[in-house]
Amino acid sequence: MKLSRPARRATLVVHVTAAAGWLGLTLGLLALAVAAITTDSAPVIEAAARSMKLFADWLVLPLALLTLLSGLLLSLGTPWGLARHRWVYTKFWLTLATTAASAFALRPGINDTVASVSVGSPVTDPTGLIAGPIVSLSAYLFMTVISVLKPWGLTRRGRKQRGQNRRGSAHKPVDAKDVRQTA
Ligand code: HEM
Repeated sequence: MKLSRPARRATLVVHVTAAAGWLGLTLGLLALAVAAITTDSAPVIEAAARSMKLFADWLVLPLALLTLLSGLLLSLGTPWGLARHRWVYTKFWLTLATTAASAFALRPGINDTVASVSVGSPVTDPTGLIAGPIVSLSAYLFMTVISVLKPWGLTRRGRKQRGQNRRGSAHKPVDAKDVRQTA
């Protein structure tokens, strides 16, 4: 599958917008968690936890899945490939891990906090509220950096593919799949 130039550009716009939205959302969750754990006021804690729940219920998974799907489309539809370059493959696994962590750790944690503050119980483990946003924010910042710098070169599979391509077209001076990698 090869994306046409306009399709690749449109997908890249969707991808970067979704990824930036996910990062901004995590920053918002972090601000709310800090507000919740640095106050003694029960109404403020409850308001912060309920706002976190709203973000987590409505936005976290859609943005995570949109980033993942548009990233997959860009990988499979361009010379970057999914398992060809280390920076793409790293992002793929890290995005899967952070999406799973959001679904199975972040959201249940926020739901538990809201359940206990709404019956008037104190938040027993505030670090639980802030750990998720800190871990995911670090992961997204790291992924933004490697997306821009594109470090580490080809994977073993990518090197093998390039060798095969070169052997298959020995008369060509450059690997046709390597040219024009930017959108
Ligand atoms: C939070 C997660 C992610 C962030 C923050 C992110 C960020 C970005 C950014 C900023 C770019 C633009 C780089 C540039 O044009 O110089 C980009 C491009 C790209 N991303 Fe992601 N990305 C994420 C997840 C993924 C995933 C999961 C995949 C693969 C499954 C992926 C595959 C790609 C590919 C192949 C490109 C290059 C597209 C092209 O040049 O046409 N990304 N990403």
